Amino acid sequence: MNHETRAEINLDNLSYNIRAIQQKVSPSRVIPVVKADAYGHGAVPVSRRLAKEGFTMVAVSRLEEAMELRESGVVQSILIFGRLFPDEIPAAIKAGFRLTVCGAEDIRWIEEAAQEQPALVHVNLDTGMGRMGLIHHQASQCFDELVKAEHCTWEGLYSHFSTSDESDKEYACLQLSRFREILDRARSLTEKPSIAHMANSGAILDIPESYFDAVRPGILMYGHYPSNETSHAIEPRQVMTLKTFVAHIREMPEGYPISYGRRWVTRMPTKIAVLPLGYADGIDRRFSNTGEVLIHGRRYPMVGTITMDYCMVEVGDEPIRPGDEAIIWGESAQGTVPLLEVAEKIGTIPYELTCGVSKRIKRVYLGDS
Ligand SMILES: Cc1ncc(COP(=O)(O)O)c(C=O)c1O
Repeated sequence: MNHETRAEINLDNLSYNIRAIQQKVSPSRVIPVVKADAYGHGAVPVSRRLAKEGFTMVAVSRLEEAMELRESGVVQSILIFGRLFPDEIPAAIKAGFRLTVCGAEDIRWIEEAAQEQPALVHVNLDTGMGRMGLIHHQASQCFDELVKAEHCTWEGLYSHFSTSDESDKEYACLQLSRFREILDRARSLTEKPSIAHMANSGAILDIPESYFDAVRPGILMYGHYPSNETSHAIEPRQVMTLKTFVAHIREMPEGYPISYGRRWVTRMPTKIAVLPLGYADGIDRRFSNTGEVLIHGRRYPMVGTITMDYCMVEVGDEPIRPGDEAIIWGESAQGTVPLLEVAEKIGTIPYELTCGVSKRIKRVYLGDS
């Protein structure tokens, strides 16, 4: 009996997924996305395993994330998607990180900081995502500045899809055509970006025309489809399995309210299993009266409001005992609970659930990192 709530991270499944992705997109290269602590899986062990698999560049969102990887001995090149402020740029250049440029102002800041050591930059082109980056119709002016910049080495041009995981690909195709047009323009200049990259998981699955020189998988590498509208062109294995155990079995009489707010009441005498897992661990309150757990290979409903440290499950007359394992999502000897299905139950996406598994949950790694 293992009395520990834990997220088991199966690094062999990660290897399986990244190899499947590489095979699908070859000869394009793969830049795995390990931001947000590798979507909650642990960026350091994940990056180490990816290094062993031969992936030489990873991407993060923030400078601190890149620094943490470097300080932990991660050797790959690191691309930072986020826009850095002038006080962050010198350290990023010194560490050799790839910096994102979102406009002419960024080029000036980077130029100033890069007097002693050239900076490697990737331009983020907003082709319609509407979040960060150089708006596509302002590209030419920025490219002129970049070509003139003496201390910036223009390594990459990238863009991000907003709808690649939807079945209707019309908008994704519009973004793709904008990217292609501007890439052609960039490649007609004297200094040209050598790595063009655009595809996220949805596009890796369904838009092969978007592979260019590299692709940037996140959620697919962690074993999940980004939505239920994509193809299953790759069949990934879930990397994280969230497990807990039955802390207590309580025999409750009929008509007894369960948890805060009395939002569920026993309809008959029944057994309630108490699991030591709540919203402080990342079990969203939207699971109240909605979620399910797998115990002895069978699904049981979460009943009552999810609390900070506990959730309750109705197990009826089943022979379930304290110490029995309970699976919230993932793959186990008891069976598989697809995270996408769990996410859809509460109207969210797999990304939010793995990123939301809190620090209190111990990550246990299966396979060498
Ligand atoms: C710029 C960028 N590229 C790639 C990804 C990976 O996306 P996905 O997890 O859908 O593959 C993300 C994640 O949001 C991103 O922000």
